[in-house]
Amino acid sequence: MENKLKLIATQGEIREAVAKVASAIQRDFKGKTPVIIGVLKGSFVFMADLARALDMPLEVDFIRVSSYGMNDSSRKGARITKDIEIDIKGRHVLVVEDISDRGVTVEKVLDHLNGKNPAVLKLCALLMRDGCEAASKVDYFGKTIGKGFVVGYGLDYKERFRNLPALYVMKDGE
Ligand code: IMP
Ligand code: MG
Repeated sequence: MENKLKLIATQGEIREAVAKVASAIQRDFKGKTPVIIGVLKGSFVFMADLARALDMPLEVDFIRVSSYGMNDSSRKGARITKDIEIDIKGRHVLVVEDISDRGVTVEKVLDHLNGKNPAVLKLCALLMRDGCEAASKVDYFGKTIGKGFVVGYGLDYKERFRNLPALYVMKDGE
């Protein structure tokens, strides 16, 4: 199966991307104790590395979003299936997403969390798809990518490949 995958970022390149994002976040959230919120499930690996790269006090929570209408842009949407548990009213909040593709998830999560009145709400994605409609809402990202379905480092294809330590694109014919 692995021979149908093309490497797009090594573990070392991912580590550099995480460090770059972490230093920008650390600068912007200096003196605060942010709540970092991972969007399940795809962000779990990035979240673990990012949290450990941030040398500051912080709190961790998770939200789960499921997308629908993936193949039909006229009725695309996303639904929150598990909410956060920490009260973020007046807090500095950072949402952590695996990939911002069409931006539907980002829009939904930001809308939902804004309703809880945080003091600051920023968003970080490991990967950003070229031409993402919600690009202006992504405050920090590790790497931009073109076409192709990405797996590894938390990202899945039919729940598989999340445990691969590097990032791959699935070759045509998959
Ligand atoms: P959206 O289109 O930006 O809302 O992306 C929805 C979700 O689909 C993302 O949070 C990912 O979990 C997933 N997704 C989008 N593109 C890919 C991909 O290339 N590989 C794996 N998951 C993806
Ligand atoms: Mg996701």
